[in-house]
Amino acid sequence: MSGHPDDQPGHVPVMLAEVLQTLQPRAQGRYLDATFGGGGYAAAILQAASCTLWAIDRDPEAIARGAALAARFPGSLHLIEGRFGDMLALLGQAGIGSLDGVVLDLGVSSFQLDTATRGFSFRQNGPLDMRMGRSGPTAADLVNSLAEADLADLLFRLGEERRSRRIARAIVASRALAPIETTDQLAAIVRRVVPKDGSGIDPATRSFQALRIQVNDELGEITLGLSQAAELLGPGGRLVVVSFHSLEDRLVKRFMIEAAGRTPAPSRHDPRGLQPRAQPRFRLLTARALRPHEAETTRNPRARSARLRALERLEIPAA
Ligand SMILES: C[S@@+](CC[C@H](N)C(=O)[O-])C[C@H]1O[C@@H](n2cnc3c(N)ncnc32)[C@H](O)[C@@H]1O
Repeated sequence: MSGHPDDQPGHVPVMLAEVLQTLQPRAQGRYLDATFGGGGYAAAILQAASCTLWAIDRDPEAIARGAALAARFPGSLHLIEGRFGDMLALLGQAGIGSLDGVVLDLGVSSFQLDTATRGFSFRQNGPLDMRMGRSGPTAADLVNSLAEADLADLLFRLGEERRSRRIARAIVASRALAPIETTDQLAAIVRRVVPKDGSGIDPATRSFQALRIQVNDELGEITLGLSQAAELLGPGGRLVVVSFHSLEDRLVKRFMIEAAGRTPAPSRHDPRGLQPRAQPRFRLLTARALRPHEAETTRNPRARSARLRALERLEIPAA
């Protein structure tokens, strides 16, 4: 590390233009950025319209960094440390019951990924931590304590790792000799038993993804966050979600399709088919997920897997 200021990690917001076009922030509107991160979306929303923005992040470092942006928009940006799975309660405490828009940009920020001491990266050695917040078990706690079958199950389900059993066996053999405490140790164990497949993707990628999702209960948070965001939207309010892998996107897609009443009608042999269907409260703004343009993925390879989906809360239908 040279210590030069340019070496400081930063986060380049992904699909920012598409997020703004879809959210359409307006003057006097009330919005929530549920994943503040480096504040890229937040700054752009506040610049686009003189609105009020609440911003949540579970990472105290993100909230601390956000103080500079809050000072640039006094009274307009309100930072809240917490989990977006608690957004109803967090906003309720701030006296907010209804919003004109919510954005969620899932996963980790480049600040988190590129800071070795946070333990998210198999490219830099650091403690095997992976917590976005500061509480709960670390990735090291999991790899050193889970039963072999549970480890294999986790790697398979959350990493979609086909060699999950072999990796779990290698982890258990290694930790019998000494606890696994660093990202380098874990990456080396995985690389020893998973051959490179020629795609250029590091063999440790899927195992690190699985552990990160488990450590932060990311899928549970998404499920809670989506339904609470939908609850908070007033008529005309919009929910915009950017996801980065298939497990996230599947949850977002299913939630939005159901909220917009796009699930197939039950068969006429099913008694539910006889009931009139409830009026959907939302409409889909993205029939198919939006993907980043090539110019963006060339500039920022982390945008490659991004998908944007959005919903709008309908005006209350006339009685
Ligand atoms: C991809 S970054 C967001 C980047 C941001 N849109 C920007 O433009 O700078 C995701 C952020 O969401 C936070 N985060 C992830 N899951 C969270 C959760 N369940 N509750 C609150 N914050 C969460 C992470 O700590 C991280 O800072």
